[in-house]
Amino acid sequence: MVRIMPVNVVVGGFFGDEGKGKIISYLALKDNIDIAVRGGVGPNAGHTVIYNGEKLGLRQIPSAIVNPKTRLLIGPGVLVNPKVLLNEIAKVKLDNKRVGVDFQAGIIEDKHIDQDRGSSHLKKKIGSTGTGCGPANADRALRILKIAKDIPELKEYLTDVPGELHKALDAGKSILVEGTQGTFLSLWHGTYPYVTSKDVTASAILSDVGLGPKYVDDVIIVFKAYVTRVGTGPLEGELSEEEAKKRGWLEIATVTGRKRRSAPFDFKLARRACKLNSATIIALTKLDIVFPETKGVTNYNDLSENAKKFIREIEEKTGVPVKIISTGPNPEDTIDLR
Ligand code: GTP
Ligand code: IMP
Ligand code: MG
Repeated sequence: MVRIMPVNVVVGGFFGDEGKGKIISYLALKDNIDIAVRGGVGPNAGHTVIYNGEKLGLRQIPSAIVNPKTRLLIGPGVLVNPKVLLNEIAKVKLDNKRVGVDFQAGIIEDKHIDQDRGSSHLKKKIGSTGTGCGPANADRALRILKIAKDIPELKEYLTDVPGELHKALDAGKSILVEGTQGTFLSLWHGTYPYVTSKDVTASAILSDVGLGPKYVDDVIIVFKAYVTRVGTGPLEGELSEEEAKKRGWLEIATVTGRKRRSAPFDFKLARRACKLNSATIIALTKLDIVFPETKGVTNYNDLSENAKKFIREIEEKTGVPVKIISTGPNPEDTIDLR
């Protein structure tokens, strides 16, 4: 069957917080996505999107929320904290019919959060987000974790996510698979043990939602124009907090409120991330933070020579074309070369 509508997956190329939220919200609107489905770990993630002119920090609901037409699903491989999810749905006054949670999504209970925060290994050594994800995934591996169908409060949202996706594929609908975290936080490919509790590269994200790799058109890898990392673990070329502040790179984490560490763009890591994810397209965010003269530019030709040189260097060193460039927080602040 020849498919007309695309199936794309978006993943993080560094240590999370590359600006996937912004890129996904742009794609949801621009490509008028029918179904967005979240893979990845769970509510340890934080994505910032601009919704109805307001800044929204999302931890469970897909970032494609910005398109009122898009159905929003959470895959069976993802952890759900029912309180966090139901709060988000209430806060944004989301139509219940837009949201679906797979029967088999794992459930985070208070005890997992207590374990996460009470463990000096997780909280201090690894610098976990304290959201219970690690202990919940450990219980999942032990096969003692509750799943969404065990939770009465989630009843009205329960669905067969892979079933919905494959029906949508047959009907020629567009699907956007939303990854979370970043390549070097992967349990397999990251800076072990300073990583999250599962693999988060494209193959894993697709497995989380029940799509085999052959269904995918583009693997869109998101890089920020500099690197940030929260929690512990190596960060090549790390800047002092003072220098980060001076450059405007000092960010505050969405979920934990911690300061993010920062470093210049890492071409070597980027190249490896492109390989690990079989990336076909690079989306580059916060170009305007490194090159302020590019703020709000929507046309490639209007970028400064320095910015273009930086983009060319990324393409040469990774072998992957930079086709989406973000020059500001709003969906409109985007150069789309696809
Ligand atoms: P992901 O976890 O990858 O989704 O990234 P994030 O959403 O966690 O990043 P964060 O919460 O730190 O949000 C980044 C902030 O920068 C938000 O306020 C965004 O609106 C904003 N932002 C995103 N892309 C750009 C950009 O290209 N330029 C500027 N100036 N701001 C951006
Ligand atoms: P955990 O996933 O909460 O166990 O945290 C393990 C490591 O991954 C810590 O260093 C966290 O800071 C990091 N981490 C997990 N999720 C995210 C994310 O969405 N963005 C950035 N860092 C994350
Ligand atoms: Mg984030």
